Amino acid sequence: MYINYVPSLRRNGAVVLVVAFAFLLASCKQDAPGTAPVSITPDNPTPVNISIPKAPTAIVFPVDNPQTDAKVELGRHLFFDKQMSVDGSTSCGSCHQVQHGFSDVFPTSMGMQGQHGTRNAPALANIAYNTAFTWDGRFESLEKHAPGPIFNSLEMGNNFTNDPRAQDSVPSGYNSKPGSNDTLFLFKRLGGDPSLTQRKDVNGNSYYDLINKAWGPVEVTTDGGNTWNTKVTFTLDIIAKSIAAYERTFISTQSDFDKFNNGDQSIYKYNPEALHGLKLFTDVNGANCVSCHSGYNFTDQQYHDNGIGINQQGDKGRFTVTKNQSDVGKFKTPSLRNVALTAPYMHDGHFTSLESVLKNYNSGGVHSANQDVKIKSLNLSDQDMADIIEFLKTLTDNNFVTDRGNKFGNPWGN
Ligand code: HEC
Ligand code: HEC
Repeated sequence: MYINYVPSLRRNGAVVLVVAFAFLLASCKQDAPGTAPVSITPDNPTPVNISIPKAPTAIVFPVDNPQTDAKVELGRHLFFDKQMSVDGSTSCGSCHQVQHGFSDVFPTSMGMQGQHGTRNAPALANIAYNTAFTWDGRFESLEKHAPGPIFNSLEMGNNFTNDPRAQDSVPSGYNSKPGSNDTLFLFKRLGGDPSLTQRKDVNGNSYYDLINKAWGPVEVTTDGGNTWNTKVTFTLDIIAKSIAAYERTFISTQSDFDKFNNGDQSIYKYNPEALHGLKLFTDVNGANCVSCHSGYNFTDQQYHDNGIGINQQGDKGRFTVTKNQSDVGKFKTPSLRNVALTAPYMHDGHFTSLESVLKNYNSGGVHSANQDVKIKSLNLSDQDMADIIEFLKTLTDNNFVTDRGNKFGNPWGN
């Protein structure tokens, strides 16, 4: 099924796309809806209603974790530091790789010693706009989530003496001796101890300097022959807040789709397939993907069974949080930003390609008990599916995924 403007656009490269944006985001109200009706002339007088906001809403920084550059920089060092794992093999960046939109290439992620978990690493672009974290949404903030992988035995394997997941129970000072298994021990492992030879990043910065800048001033005292920072303690709270601040800088706004949505009519001029794909994606009578992949970040932040054939005995998804039977097998709608680079797909890495994802949606899904009513046979032709994939490819933000500078570069150089 091809709508008629597509072939004529192919014939005539000079066809003008008149993009009339009726809507401008005037306020910072969260989730303010936006529409960008697109008229394609002269062949298609019917406006295509793209119900995708042009701009993200403002990032809401937590009151107790205001954003600072120094915090972000400390967070970047922690994010990419393999010494954060007990065996020095795995950093956050091992599973959340920049070139894959902060995702990885495995169906389910690989942590320490080649061990695989049970879920696929989500891409982290625009994660600052999320309101719940992980596939089942069990964390309500990036700060609350960050300790998760640090203590997960498959991921980074730390096991502190005090209950690691409860930030309140972490001692407020460096009150334990080296060798005990807590954040002081971690600080030493990271090479931050100012009384010893400090580990330096590629620019000669040490953790001691970075922590001082972000959370200082640092007071140094001596305890049993070792010098420790006692005033500003390297607590789990500081670690989590710094990593979260860094994650809020993962902003992807420069894809071809964004340029188009912001008024650059030339973007899809020579890519009518992508424009047709966009129309199908947003059309309630077409593929209607936008009913779940909605908003600036292509997610409604809700939980659905999207018809991948959920085994009720397997990963129960949202059910593990709510204990509602109706939530068995529902997972959070993922963002589709940079999706062409984040294969394999779904919470369990079910599909290796976008082609197989589209085929499954087109078939109406492999039915299971809680499958969403919106998942039904779509009657898309092979060309329609290919066009939707062409559109999805235009969600790749090349600046974002190739940045290796002070934003997304690994400061440890490995
Ligand atoms: C071994 C691979 C691995 C490591 C290491 C890892 N992650 Fe993840 N990450 C995952 C997987 C898998 C999930 C999905 C978990 C789930 O749904 O239960 C995830 C989920 C997330 C999410 C939630 C994303 C969303 O869309 O809801 C964030 C944020 C995140 N990780 C950040 C981090 C940070 C920060 C670190 C380091 C402290 C880290 N990850 C270390 C694999 C990893
Ligand atoms: C009923 C809501 C819903 C609809 C409609 C929907 N999706 Fe999804 N989509 C989801 C959910 C939920 C997931 C994750 C499911 C899982 O992991 O088990 C998902 C996952 C995906 C993924 C994998 C992303 C990743 O990073 O793993 C792609 C690609 C995708 N959808 C594209 C589409 C396209 C294209 C359409 C329209 C043909 C569509 N979706 C329609 C809810 C929906």
